[in-house]
Amino acid sequence: MKKDTPAKPQVRLYYKNVIAEVIGEENGITPAQLKALAEKTSPLIRQLNKERKSGKTPYRDLPYNNKTVEQVKALAGKLKGRCENLVVLGIGGSALGNIALQTALNPYMYNLDDKQRTGPRLFVFDNVDPAQFGSFLDWVGDKLDATIFNVISKSGQTAETAAQFMIIRQLLLDKFGKAGLKKHIVATTDPKHGTLLKIARDADLPCLEVPDGVGGRFSVLSAVGLFSAAMCGIDIDRLLAGAADMDKTVSAEDFCKNPAAINAAINFHFYNRGKKISVMMPYSYALKDLADWYRQLWAESLGKAKDLAGSEVHIGPTPVKALGATDQHSQVQLYREGPNDKIFTFLQVRDFGKGLKIGPAPDCAAELKYLANADLGALLNSEKTATEYALLQNKRPCLTVIFDKIDAYTVGQFIYLYEVTTSFAGALFGINTYDQPAVELGKEATFALMGKDGYQKLAKEIQPFAEIDEKFLA
Ligand code: PA5
Repeated sequence: MKKDTPAKPQVRLYYKNVIAEVIGEENGITPAQLKALAEKTSPLIRQLNKERKSGKTPYRDLPYNNKTVEQVKALAGKLKGRCENLVVLGIGGSALGNIALQTALNPYMYNLDDKQRTGPRLFVFDNVDPAQFGSFLDWVGDKLDATIFNVISKSGQTAETAAQFMIIRQLLLDKFGKAGLKKHIVATTDPKHGTLLKIARDADLPCLEVPDGVGGRFSVLSAVGLFSAAMCGIDIDRLLAGAADMDKTVSAEDFCKNPAAINAAINFHFYNRGKKISVMMPYSYALKDLADWYRQLWAESLGKAKDLAGSEVHIGPTPVKALGATDQHSQVQLYREGPNDKIFTFLQVRDFGKGLKIGPAPDCAAELKYLANADLGALLNSEKTATEYALLQNKRPCLTVIFDKIDAYTVGQFIYLYEVTTSFAGALFGINTYDQPAVELGKEATFALMGKDGYQKLAKEIQPFAEIDEKFLA
């Protein structure tokens, strides 16, 4: 074991590079400001713990839901043997967690290299692009025998998921008849009501639950994310153990020992001082889709028109995802010299679990000798330090979430850390973290444009926007 690696791998928040001592008083947090943030946030730790105990935030208890774990494992065990391709149909919170777990915890070539995969190939369709989905259907058409579709929708009303599902349903009916549906589809949905539940009951589909009171963006540790993970060989027990471990840490009432409270308070502080953009930049390909997952979690939870008292506030930090080192060659010019309106959160990995040595420099290129025989992971981590150093020279605040290594345990910790950070941030902003009223109008307008009954009036209102005004066509 390396000297600095603890027995259990950990995920830690490093926040020195946001303080005034490092980036100056104009941009950094002074000791007095940190004290004020601790005083403001500490009662919210107690409040969130109380809300959790009274059942108001059921996502907090997902790491302990043994019944779900047993159901997921039983179903995965039954289906795995005859499944070469697992296709998730879902969108938003019903897809982003699945994608993030797969990218983080399975090898890059998982789908393409049979030797590297420990379960079916995984495809997650979270869009209704006919070219993309059509190409997939052309490929999967003669492989349906060994393909399972996991349709995930809490409501069953979501147009994108419903449309994909209806295409697949017809394909399966044409090929296998009605009996094929229950053999090839798993429905993950609300266990009490909703359109997908109705369909699942009618076709006798195997079902998994989206738990009551858990919004899509907080649902990755429920059957929503666990089923595809278990099918694809991810250790869901370790994932949940990591989350449960982080639960203890982020329940700590001492602000200084609570990384979720500190993280939320720092983000809140900078938002109120004009740094309204929050960039998450993993220096690890495996973690890149966790930044995408975070983007939805942060945006849908914190972007709100009204506060809890009903006053108009139009609040919410804008989450941006970037990838190190790739985006050093795309975004860093702006990040350093553009407006100082961002807080950066790097995700850094201590041990990539794979040493990869760079080869010798060609004789004719002595200028590349500095790279010869170096470790590729050391290069990536040096680039993180270098970029952070460069940003600090421009007085840009930088946080780092440090992963000892990437495995199911640390990914579980990270997910839980960010979910609870979001709850703290919502409480600091004084908004409802768990609703998403602004998503509705777009959904309803789609219903209207596609001719759904009851939406005729809205369809008329939208009509002018559906037509191109030639005067403005350049
Ligand atoms: O986080 C959310 O609540 C949303 O992103 C939903 O997950 C998304 O709109 C899909 O909804 P549903 O699961 O009802 O199809």
